[in-house]
Amino acid sequence: MANAVNIRDPLFWRAGAVSTTLVMLIVLAFLTIDSYRYIAHGGINVPDYDVINQKIGYAYDWNRHADVPVIGGEQPLFGKKVSEPEAADLMLKGKLVIQSRNCMNCHTIFGNGAYYGPDLTKSWLDPAWHQIWMPMTGKSTQEEAMVEFLMHPDKYPTWNRRMPNLNIDEDEARATVAYLKWLSSVDTNGFPAGFGRSVPNGQ
Ligand code: HEC
Repeated sequence: MANAVNIRDPLFWRAGAVSTTLVMLIVLAFLTIDSYRYIAHGGINVPDYDVINQKIGYAYDWNRHADVPVIGGEQPLFGKKVSEPEAADLMLKGKLVIQSRNCMNCHTIFGNGAYYGPDLTKSWLDPAWHQIWMPMTGKSTQEEAMVEFLMHPDKYPTWNRRMPNLNIDEDEARATVAYLKWLSSVDTNGFPAGFGRSVPNGQ
């Protein structure tokens, strides 16, 4: 009997629990590290910050049955190419603007947040910038129209729900636009589905 497995022995169950926990910890560590390959900036699904120097589109991929970002040729934001560290500074500032004004109290990013305003994940690709806000603000580029809107959203309403003026200055608005442009380049496996599909998105 000495060598047989005795399932009534508490030591048997303890050994089972300890070994299962250890194995699952290793699996979890592996999955966490593996996810970084996808979700870190510069990873498989998330371009480096200097992607803001390029044109970003969104097109249906028949193999994946989802909309995927299409990174195109040069299209520097505000007409000025930035280095990766300069782009990273803009992202940091844009993120701080978004946190300090609590945009997530009304908006969602990647579906997280509140649903009073539209999801911002792909807002850079919203055809409304070209079709409505550029003519409305009188600005000749999308990014300038976005800056003007973010500084005075109360002046340019397009909807029955209004975005209030959040006292965003011009530098803050430019950094937020940079952040939103980068955000739209993230491959979200097609989320939000069919974004901007009903109207051509300025391409
Ligand atoms: C009190 C709620 C509220 C807060 C806070 C808020 N927004 Fe909005 N936002 C809205 C509403 C409502 C709209 C739609 C306005 C319209 O179309 O006239 C909107 C529209 C937008 C749009 C246009 C989206 C699109 O694709 O049409 C952007 C970009 C945006 N907000 C960014 C921000 C950012 C960045 C912040 C934080 C700095 C923020 N918002 C904070 C309510 C809010």
